[in-house]
Amino acid sequence: MNKHLYGIDFGTTNSALSIFDEASQQIIATITVPSLIYFPQEAIPGEKNYVVGEQAITGYLADGMKGRFIKSIKQILSRSSFIETRIHNKRYNAADLVALILKDLKAKADELLGYDCQKAVIGRPVFFDDNDPAKDTLAHTRLTKAAQLAGFGEVRFQFEPIGAAFAYERTITKQEKVLVADLGGGTTDFTFLILDPEQAGNKDRKRDNMASGGIYIGGDSFDSAFMWDRGTPYFGKNTLYEATPGKVLTVPVSLFANICSWDQMNFFNGLRIRKDMENYYHYSKNDPKFKNLITLIDNNLGYSVFQSIERTKIELSKQELSAFAYSNMEIEIEEEISLAQYNGIIAKDVAKIAAYLDEFLASNNINPAEIDSLFLTGGTSLVKGVQALFKERFPQVPVNSGDNFTSVAKGLAYSGYLFDD
Ligand SMILES: Nc1ncnc2c1ncn2[C@@H]1O[C@H](COP(=O)(O)OP(=O)(O)OP(=O)(O)O)[C@@H](O)[C@H]1O
Ligand SMILES: [Mg+2]
Repeated sequence: MNKHLYGIDFGTTNSALSIFDEASQQIIATITVPSLIYFPQEAIPGEKNYVVGEQAITGYLADGMKGRFIKSIKQILSRSSFIETRIHNKRYNAADLVALILKDLKAKADELLGYDCQKAVIGRPVFFDDNDPAKDTLAHTRLTKAAQLAGFGEVRFQFEPIGAAFAYERTITKQEKVLVADLGGGTTDFTFLILDPEQAGNKDRKRDNMASGGIYIGGDSFDSAFMWDRGTPYFGKNTLYEATPGKVLTVPVSLFANICSWDQMNFFNGLRIRKDMENYYHYSKNDPKFKNLITLIDNNLGYSVFQSIERTKIELSKQELSAFAYSNMEIEIEEEISLAQYNGIIAKDVAKIAAYLDEFLASNNINPAEIDSLFLTGGTSLVKGVQALFKERFPQVPVNSGDNFTSVAKGLAYSGYLFDD
């Protein structure tokens, strides 16, 4: 009889699924997909009206960035203000959208196995929302619903950093007290636990999990900070306009907060704001930088600008110098960015992670001296400034890292004991 279970890491940026074969107790495959959905502007009658993952990016770009491109869906799980969105005259709530990603992963995995596997351990961040338990419950309920819609009959949930820890556990040879930090696109999660290769796969691991916590800051926050600091001046942050005859003012800085994160760009959709924008432009005597803002919004260029920002960040994970470059529809950006400058831009966010880490250790009575090792995972753990934080806090503690984009899914797949309850 077929016996498998899926470990599913539904991430803000990337999602992954590991297939665990319960007979051989091995992971036999891992599939990853960017957490993106694209609905082309024109639905083709009778056909699936959306694409997921890489295809979402290529489709969206090929269609001149028209239609609906949805990213960071995980962030809306905890947002009570998000009820639904209408696409091609169909309503989609948060669970419906998340289900599309889960379905895509499930279909690919089922195809590999050749049957409809109903069993999944799905990861969740320690907190979906920093301060509000009601929002956390809402997010969990929506994720549960999404799993059902995607066709999973037997579902368990596991904290993402515990998943990461179980993946690390497979690589060690003796018992260790480990601090796991999973730094992703949307969140940073910590877990402190006892790992023991002899316990791996055991039924009851609750005792070994000593503390978990998280904060709503990740690589997306760095990209927003970068946009604010380096991007917005190219889009007219310092534009002057003549408010009344002879009275010159700077355009409201609040406008620019809306181009610093993806989901706020639709702020500019309202008619009134459109009119205001035209007025600022006119009374700025057609400032070319302000025109860039209008071009950005009118042509949905947000995603491509953020891709450039991410490219700069990724380069600075490997080298000391990079460029922030963007050239499209008369928007011309080209400047050098050094690692030191980049560290300055993300310093506030890194300081928040550091402050949370201190709070996490203090509130759980963890003495840094008792930590045997660190395990860093998630894409954002590749950022030099983040690595420096851990080296500085724990100079004596060895730092390990695994597959930054698949360790959570693998560890979730090793969490089959959750079905034994
Ligand atoms: N080489 C790199 N250097 C720096 N950052 C990177 C690198 N590669 C990816 N990232 C960043 O890592 C983040 C994605 O990481 P990851 O896939 O672990 O997140 P996620 O699991 O989707 O998010 P979350 O766990 O918060 O839900 C993005 O912000 C991305 O820009
Ligand atoms: Mg993650």
